[in-house]
Amino acid sequence: MAKPSAVVQIGGFGSTLRRDAWWVELVPVVILLGTFSIYATFRAFEGKFYAWGPYLSPFYSPLIDPEHHWWRFSPALLILAGPLGFRASCYYYRKAYYRAFFLDPPACAVSEGGRGAYRGETRFPFILQNLHRWFLYLAFVYLAFLWPDAIRAFFFPDGFGIGVGSLVLLVNIVLLTLYTLSCHSLRHLAGGKFDCFSCTSFGPTRHTAWRWLSGLNERHMLYAWMSLISVGLADLYVRMVSAGLLKDIRLL
Ligand code: FES
Repeated sequence: MAKPSAVVQIGGFGSTLRRDAWWVELVPVVILLGTFSIYATFRAFEGKFYAWGPYLSPFYSPLIDPEHHWWRFSPALLILAGPLGFRASCYYYRKAYYRAFFLDPPACAVSEGGRGAYRGETRFPFILQNLHRWFLYLAFVYLAFLWPDAIRAFFFPDGFGIGVGSLVLLVNIVLLTLYTLSCHSLRHLAGGKFDCFSCTSFGPTRHTAWRWLSGLNERHMLYAWMSLISVGLADLYVRMVSAGLLKDIRLL
């Protein structure tokens, strides 16, 4: 019997029938994720220039033991695990960094070569990716701190005001909230796991929530990148103002 023409023989690493420049989409991921990782690591260990006036860097919120009574290192190290675990186990980022950094596989329909038996995420350390839903719960705790931080950024010693930093922190928390609400796990929790909404308790409410979250979920990749950039820029802004490298402009 003749073989179907669509069957592709697995070749060496990078072999593919694709004719487009499939590798181009890896470049921005390497640049953005690589740059953010280096900058965030530097800032997490720096331990200073994280606050100015009513502004607090999102990398340092919630701020724990800033006077170093019992923790002598950077306060950011105490809270790093939550946001790091949430991003690292995000379904979208997993796809992005498995391709861009591990080339596993490099892209859709592009061979990764012979790498032995495929084990997916069933073994350590990748089995830890299954903790994503718990990191989602934790992400809401961080949002509960970051929203008051963003509101406080509008209250200066002389009263209510608007500085460039106030807007930077507000935009950042809005984007972080959109990123969290568009999470695949949240959509699943709200209703993605049901076959029949009318057969379950609170069915109409859950269906409404699921439809709203599904709308956000369609843009999860966009929110993932926008919030990554905004949180990095928000920290950079506070750092520069705090270090005296930039003057905050009062708009009101
Ligand atoms: Fe990306 Fe949950 S899937 S944050």
